[in-house]
Amino acid sequence: MRNPIIGGNWKMNKGSPSEATKMLKELIPLVKKIKSVDIVVAPPFTALFSTIQIVKNTNIMVGAQNMYYEEMGAFTGEISPEFLKDLGCKYVILGHSERRDIFNETNDLINKKLKKALNSNLNPIVCIGEHLEERESGRTKDVIENQFDLTFNDLKSEELSKVTIAYEPIWAIGTGKTATPEQAEEIHIFIRELIASNYDKKTAEIVRIQYGGSIKPTNANELFKKENIDGGLVGGASLHAKSLYEIIKAAEISFNK
Ligand code: 13P
Repeated sequence: MRNPIIGGNWKMNKGSPSEATKMLKELIPLVKKIKSVDIVVAPPFTALFSTIQIVKNTNIMVGAQNMYYEEMGAFTGEISPEFLKDLGCKYVILGHSERRDIFNETNDLINKKLKKALNSNLNPIVCIGEHLEERESGRTKDVIENQFDLTFNDLKSEELSKVTIAYEPIWAIGTGKTATPEQAEEIHIFIRELIASNYDKKTAEIVRIQYGGSIKPTNANELFKKENIDGGLVGGASLHAKSLYEIIKAAEISFNK
């Protein structure tokens, strides 16, 4: 049984320790009784330390939004997986479409980061997803298959088992336009089939595939009811304790049904 995972990707928001702390002080008591959902918040680097301090001994885990694939050295402006691990991060988001599109990250670079994250015992959340014009021209599955092949290139099944895949259709990110539960489920099933054919059936059953793109308390229930949607990666709605909690609660309810 795959238990759901809800990630709060704060993007470039709430990066000051005081703002992050304020939000988390509201979230901690709300989610206290949540048992079946893995809860991850991913604040900007500047708020990681204070976040890790404040969620200590709670059921909230912390993730970073990016990392580089080297351990140390002359890489101005970059953050090493070792630093994240040492700080107490458990997760790292890799290959978010904003990293791919705005910062020109390639599948090859993401693959290097992914291997390094796994090597460093960080749990990677790897994002894949199509642009609007790719969907409209009927190329969604080709795009997903290509990203899958290149991003997860040369991984062993034990390694892939530790990865959470976030299917984030780019046209649904920050637009208020959510994929319908049926549209999302169709691609989640397709990704699971890719895992089964490239690896094996057992791995396909283990890997968690979360949906991302304009998840709100009002649409979370319907999405999480789908068999192959194992939670979500939440942007805008993860900035407020109450809406994030409601989304986490929806995942908990769907799991326990
Ligand atoms: P929104 O929830 O703001 O659409 O963002 C989704 C996302 O990009 C999560 O990584």
